[in-house]
Amino acid sequence: FQPKPLVGKNVIVTAGGTKETIDPVRFIGNRSSGKMGLAMAKIARDLGAEVTLITTVATNLGGINIIHVQTADELMTHLQDTFPDTDVLVMAAAVADFKPINVADQKIKKNADNDVFTIKLTKNPDILKTVAATKKNQFVVGFAAETQNLLANAEKKLASKNADVILANNVSQMGAGFNVDTNRITLLQKNKQPETWPLMSKVDVAKKFWDFYLHR
Ligand code: C5P
Repeated sequence: FQPKPLVGKNVIVTAGGTKETIDPVRFIGNRSSGKMGLAMAKIARDLGAEVTLITTVATNLGGINIIHVQTADELMTHLQDTFPDTDVLVMAAAVADFKPINVADQKIKKNADNDVFTIKLTKNPDILKTVAATKKNQFVVGFAAETQNLLANAEKKLASKNADVILANNVSQMGAGFNVDTNRITLLQKNKQPETWPLMSKVDVAKKFWDFYLHR
């Protein structure tokens, strides 16, 4: 007997770092592995949810509706389509803050005149903030990766992004954050004391999060 307490729930998880196009063969990326988001999606599936994973990381997890994207703009488009019908959004993707203003049609070539090459960037939309501003009954979870003032910065995000929960981690600490299998999380929610969880695997973080969600 396996309990499936998320049966009937629609869950969207976003995962991985966005790849902002420079030209047909190049992008600006970041070190996110997508592991935290993938674990969130997998455990939600195991608990019976109907899961859509919008990801920049190639994966073929069974029993999950997978949408592969590259850029923040693509992620935003797919999320805006799916968000109205969802019960829970877990926004684990590491969205680039900036993208190139101009995308070159052809591969950019080096030549005698461009020893210094400049790419001008423009701000990406804040996807979480934009989508959560339209929220009705959806439960919205954001992440905050910080290297300093973890709690103050995460509190700000909870309010400014209209999230129900922020899972914050200090990425300058050992075993937390990008490209490792473990994470050290502080969970923040409105009008409650922050909860700090011990260092644990990302899969265990996902289990603990869904357990929190079911018993909150
Ligand atoms: O503002 P910051 O990037 O620290 O916030 C992190 C949270 O906001 C994450 O949940 C991330 O997925 C989301 N985010 C977003 N769009 C951006 C930047 C971050 O949805 N442009």
